[in-house]
Amino acid sequence: MVHIKTPEEIEKMRATCRLAAQVLEYIAPHVRAGITTGELNDLCDQYIRDNGAIPAPLNYYGFPKSICTSVNEVVCHGIPGRQRLKEGDIVNVDITTILDGYHGDTSKTYRIGKVDARAEKIDRVAYQALALGIGAVVPGAALGDIGHAIQTYVEAEGCSVVREYCGHGIGRQFHEEPQVLHYGKPGRGLRLKPGMTFTVEPMVNIGKRDIKVLQDNWTVVTQDGSLSGQYEHTVLVTESGVEVLTSLNGDV
Ligand code: MF3
Ligand code: CO
Ligand code: CO
Repeated sequence: MVHIKTPEEIEKMRATCRLAAQVLEYIAPHVRAGITTGELNDLCDQYIRDNGAIPAPLNYYGFPKSICTSVNEVVCHGIPGRQRLKEGDIVNVDITTILDGYHGDTSKTYRIGKVDARAEKIDRVAYQALALGIGAVVPGAALGDIGHAIQTYVEAEGCSVVREYCGHGIGRQFHEEPQVLHYGKPGRGLRLKPGMTFTVEPMVNIGKRDIKVLQDNWTVVTQDGSLSGQYEHTVLVTESGVEVLTSLNGDV
């Protein structure tokens, strides 16, 4: 069942999503060469708690940390730890807050210093893929329109879309219906209605789309070792279009 949020719930979604976005802004100056992903985790954890919220990933199906940090060939669900960021790396930081019972979910890719052309490209394509996906969100559109917009663009750029993980409804639950695939055909699937809240979070690889999960049972990497990038927003379908709940300035 896809839950249509009430106006009261939408206010709570706005608040938790704003906080999640503020975490990404807060951490930005710390995401530099020399810091460990574990240190980034601890800073975000403290900031979230200082703002009266809970980090949703911690203990979620046994996930051991409060945020996900996915470096270079890591597609998603990277576990923060002793890895030290170095010049040329790209790292996705994925934040999910629980505030007043509601979840806000957002992520972005950061560049560590000067990155090479491939890293620059996958970062740019991942960002634009999210923007185009969100651009397809309007009442009456189909979920397949979102996936199609993303897939067409990413593949035209010579990159690939990961199939095993998708966007998701979000609210009282971290992951609710519907599944928001990042590939698909126009007009297929569920029709969007005002009051729906879900994430769009395409994972895009510079090489092949195939992935594998490491021995820790969480870390997802590209099978060919190629770079992967990702951006994520939580959005609300409005009467006239879309509101990007995890945007601080109204942009994507
Ligand atoms: N934040 C991720 C998402 O966008 C999910 C992380 S699940 C975790 O859906 F357990 F790894 F935290
Ligand atoms: Co998500
Ligand atoms: Co997320």
